[in-house]
Amino acid sequence: PRAKYWVGDDLYKFQGFWIPTIAIPGIIKFQTQFQARDSDLLVTSFPKCGTTWLKSLVFMISNRSIYSISDNPLTKLSPHDVVPNLEFNVYLFKPYPDLEILPNPRIFSTHAPYPLLPSSVINSESKIVYMCRNLLDQFVSFWHFKDRLKQQGACTSISEAFEMFYSGVDGFGPSWEHVLSYWKASLENPNKVLFLKYEDMKENPTFYVKKLGDFLGFPFSEEEVKQGMIEEIANFCSFENLRNLGVNKSGKRAIARPIENNAYFRKGEVGDWANYLSPSMAERAIKLMDDKFSGSGLSF
Ligand code: A3P
Repeated sequence: PRAKYWVGDDLYKFQGFWIPTIAIPGIIKFQTQFQARDSDLLVTSFPKCGTTWLKSLVFMISNRSIYSISDNPLTKLSPHDVVPNLEFNVYLFKPYPDLEILPNPRIFSTHAPYPLLPSSVINSESKIVYMCRNLLDQFVSFWHFKDRLKQQGACTSISEAFEMFYSGVDGFGPSWEHVLSYWKASLENPNKVLFLKYEDMKENPTFYVKKLGDFLGFPFSEEEVKQGMIEEIANFCSFENLRNLGVNKSGKRAIARPIENNAYFRKGEVGDWANYLSPSMAERAIKLMDDKFSGSGLSF
């Protein structure tokens, strides 16, 4: 089955999820050709849940012995170039880059839901971090993101977009199935999958920088803690700092489709949905989330 999506793309129901048709060849190559290493780090997320933030944190934490904070690649390159997405970047390049020559730790990202990950990833010692967010905020964030790309194709009114969101017809959706797939994996294998919530990280970024360091195998030494390294990384990766870096203000990335780097930095707040959803939309969405997450132990 197909559905109309945005920016001229369709969605295709692929292995149980609505995948943008443009990403399907990349997902298939990821599934059939990717050879995971035990040292690989995989940043996973549903779109608009804080992928850019998590990419920056994982990169900074795992490369902190190589680069100084003031002169690291993220001051010149977009987080999306430093941590490439497999289905939209790596496997859409022709010819695609030789991943074997990359040094450890290799860091990649994907929006693929957990059941679509290749066995090479699941069966290796590689680490998976997943970023999740209140899906009402995710919806509002995505609606704005699509609106910014309006000139490139169709953009829908918020009420039309809401009906798609509500019915689960969204890139990599249904969104709740995506979230639950990683949530369950994190409960079954907490050493393999770290499940993070945007809201918790906003409240206490330093706690999560330390937690990520421990989980990824790059724990902070006492010396580093004393020197304030955890705070430095949290501050460098803050919404304000990342947004204000030159590359994120003006750069553009020509991948599957050109996207301006600043499109990834809008407001960076929790609860913005209340400014956009009508009372009846909000009521329906909250009830939907209660239904979908009931009994899972997950709430927002
Ligand atoms: P808003 O549109 O609500 O502002 P993604 O990176 O998955 O595309 O998600 C984008 C969302 O994360 C946007 O949300 C964006 O502003 C927010 N964001 C980007 N960088 C961030 C950061 N360093 N800290 C917190 N939020 C960030």
